[in-house]
Amino acid sequence: MAKKPADSLVIMTELVLPNDTNVFGNLMGGRLMYWMDIAAALAAQKHSNAPVVTASVDNLSFMNSIKLGNAVHIEARVTRAFNTSMEVYLNVWGEDLVAQNKYQSNTAYYTFVALDEAGKPKAAADLKPETEEDMELFNGALRRRQVRLILGGKMKPGDAKELKALFEKG
Ligand SMILES: CC(C)(COP(=O)(O)OP(=O)(O)OC[C@H]1O[C@@H](n2cnc3c(N)ncnc32)[C@H](O)[C@@H]1OP(=O)(O)O)[C@@H](O)C(=O)NCCC(=O)NCCS
Repeated sequence: MAKKPADSLVIMTELVLPNDTNVFGNLMGGRLMYWMDIAAALAAQKHSNAPVVTASVDNLSFMNSIKLGNAVHIEARVTRAFNTSMEVYLNVWGEDLVAQNKYQSNTAYYTFVALDEAGKPKAAADLKPETEEDMELFNGALRRRQVRLILGGKMKPGDAKELKALFEKG
């Protein structure tokens, strides 16, 4: 049965404590990626009703540092399910709870594979986009999948028809 992106929505909030920071008093990128991996895995598990493993993480750029004592909010939801793999979109922002100020940290795409009892890839439910934003993410997911499979050595560039069409549009 198909599921909606909203069915897999996860919002995770963490408080940045001294042990999470670098020498500048900002949240370490590695700690943030760890929290993002957990939030995204929860979303993928909600979608697939199965345990999942991280197959790949797309490029990550950190726009603004998240300060010691601030909150970090990570929103994750599945954008598209292929066969056994699912793309999860993450939106991350910081919040200074004293100054009541919210700021963007980054956005990212993680890919997860659902596994069966034997630890083998297992088909995940289809995803049915609802909103305009859902549809935009759903459509782009096919091209992003082609990029990551080419980079992972799992697809020949010549087979990535939708990606190629994007460059041929002029
Ligand atoms: C990810 C993993 C399950 C893929 O298994 P595999 O035996 O290569 O299986 P397949 O080639 O049949 O691929 C299974 C799915 O993974 C997808 N996949 C494989 N490599 C991928 C990559 N680099 N990026 C995105 N998706 C990938 C495939 O497209 C396929 O998806 P689909 O069924 O929706 O088409 C396997 O490589 C694995 O277990 N990796 C380690 C995962 C892990 O431990 N992660 C934590 C970090 S250490």
